[in-house]
Amino acid sequence: MESVQAEIKVLTDELNEANHQYYVLSNSLMSDFDFDQKLKRLQLLEEENPSLADENSPSKRVGGDITKKFKSIKHEIPMLSLANTYSKEELEEWEARNQKLTDDKITYVCELKYDGVAIGIKYKNGKLVQAVTRGDGSKGEEVTSNVKTIRSVPLKLRGNYPEELEIRGEIFYPLANFQQLNEDREELGEATFANPRNTASGTLKMHDSAVVASRGLDCMLYGVYTNNKEYPGHYESVEAAASWGIKTPVGKPRYIAICESIDQIMDFVNHWDKQRSKLPFEIDGVVVKINNYRIQEELGFTAKSPRWAISYKFKAEAALTRLNEITYQVGRTGAITPVANLEAVSLAGTTVKRASLHNADQIEKLDIRVGDFVYVEKGGEIIPKITGVELSKRDLLVQPVHYLEHCPECHTMLVRKEGEAQHYCPNDLGCPPQITGRMQHFISRKAMDIDGLGSETIELLFQEKLVQSPADLFELNFGQLIQLERFAEKSVNNLLSGVVDSKQVPFERVLYGIGIRFVGETVAKKLAKHYTNIDNIKAASLEDLVNVDEIGNKIAESVVGFFADDRNLLELERLKAQGLQFELSEEQLANTTNKLEGLTFVISGVFELHSRDELKAMIENNGAKNASSISAKTSYLIRGENMGPSKLAKAEKLDVKMISETEFVELLNS
Ligand code: IVH
Repeated sequence: MESVQAEIKVLTDELNEANHQYYVLSNSLMSDFDFDQKLKRLQLLEEENPSLADENSPSKRVGGDITKKFKSIKHEIPMLSLANTYSKEELEEWEARNQKLTDDKITYVCELKYDGVAIGIKYKNGKLVQAVTRGDGSKGEEVTSNVKTIRSVPLKLRGNYPEELEIRGEIFYPLANFQQLNEDREELGEATFANPRNTASGTLKMHDSAVVASRGLDCMLYGVYTNNKEYPGHYESVEAAASWGIKTPVGKPRYIAICESIDQIMDFVNHWDKQRSKLPFEIDGVVVKINNYRIQEELGFTAKSPRWAISYKFKAEAALTRLNEITYQVGRTGAITPVANLEAVSLAGTTVKRASLHNADQIEKLDIRVGDFVYVEKGGEIIPKITGVELSKRDLLVQPVHYLEHCPECHTMLVRKEGEAQHYCPNDLGCPPQITGRMQHFISRKAMDIDGLGSETIELLFQEKLVQSPADLFELNFGQLIQLERFAEKSVNNLLSGVVDSKQVPFERVLYGIGIRFVGETVAKKLAKHYTNIDNIKAASLEDLVNVDEIGNKIAESVVGFFADDRNLLELERLKAQGLQFELSEEQLANTTNKLEGLTFVISGVFELHSRDELKAMIENNGAKNASSISAKTSYLIRGENMGPSKLAKAEKLDVKMISETEFVELLNS
């Protein structure tokens, strides 16, 4: 036991240090692979020795706790907002008001105003104990499990921290992660999110912390609250917080500055007004604070905000330019996106020529007309958006937009389903960008991952009329390929062997690759496991499908629709004949049944015959769900040795059936 305890400690320290270096200080101490290996080892040890598992262990970062309803918590110190200013004159007025209230010389601290959501995080004896959203300022929602998944938020403090501490900060969506999220969603044919701030806020309130963990939120500190007044001012306490391992602006180039005058403040403001597009996250201004805590106290608060701080808001980065033309793009799923083609204009350091118009409603709502002068703004999206029309510059002759009726690529009449914002081209099997889009999806990394074949090659093969559908890829031959421009013997052989090798890709990835709408990676795995082969999925009725865990109506309808189309069936037959995997392998199958379908298990304690991971796999492979905490929905608690007393009490209170490991095995074999 002692050596296990020692190993847990070593792993915990190593992982905490690697996290801190990577997410707070941007240094890399070990490879992702090593990190994952160590984390897996720690998880295993903790599962096998629950009495040694710490609730602030780095393994908590991956989430898994489900919060049904967030608890409402009263803030000990209210979370106020800030008064806004937009000019140097207003700043000078603010300073003059302050100087009437104090005789002392004022020193200021300037910080970035992060565009996210406020959070209050409490630490006791160096351990993160609670995280609460701003809410209405006097009470907020407890989102501790979700905040624990944010890698830059330390679960344990380091150095010389005070016994009790609350930090306040801003949780935000880093732009790169936000763009990745939207790209992933687009690939699945799902609606993309409008901006990073709302998405950060929505993510923070998700019930499944594992999903929050996958999103990659970040957090920056802007306030430190302790009982003892050890530090003379804000800047000094932010520096101290940095030494406790918290992510702060200290040490980053010009993220924070001490200023002695309004001119110095304006230098900071002007610098970031120009440079903010280069930041990896969004800001909407600068916050100016009086540094000294004693002066802060002297000045106090108005009803809504502190007198000692003020935010200098940037004007939205907008440009006015002419809308020359609206063109339309067709996606893999046939979704039509209108695109504004603009007179080139410079905005936030880049030249903008195109902007997304989203859909027909958006064009109508803003009454955008070709020839209009429109305002373009840059948010978190890669493509800027149009926010309005300058009507004073409208030419009398411009006409309202007549939205496209036929597909720009294949001229089929477009359709728009009730309740959907997007128009679609229904000619899925005859429309070029849909055809190539489907093949590009089929060969993509998470699907067939075909070596030697990329998106551009697909375009080329399609143009050369060599392929129309994924099945055609398997009928390509050397003679056809060697004649293509840019193809030498080596690249041809590479491509051909990549295609052959892909026949071994497991069923769930083939299922994902064939591109049934709304069937993403996770759903494909679920369906593969539940139905074990393609014929069973094909035979499943709508009612059948919605009964599968996590399959909703929208997905079920799409699956049924896919198999009702003879052209899809023909394609599947061809792929089958080529030898692709359309069923789970012997090995996958040997461990899979639906025996425990509909049941939810919680396992707790230490076991003799199987490891906890083995038990969990047995549960999942037989159609049941693992949950981490006991609730009214728990069907069985598998009880091992040294089970925690609180779990036991909860199970008894909710009258959850408790079984031993042997009883579980009997249940499985019955
Ligand atoms: S200080 C007493 N500093 O802006 C209020 N706030 O409008 C102290 N914010 O709710 C707030 N960056 O969520 C402060 N560097 C920063 C900030 C910041 C963003 C947010 C914060 C607050 C809102 C106030």
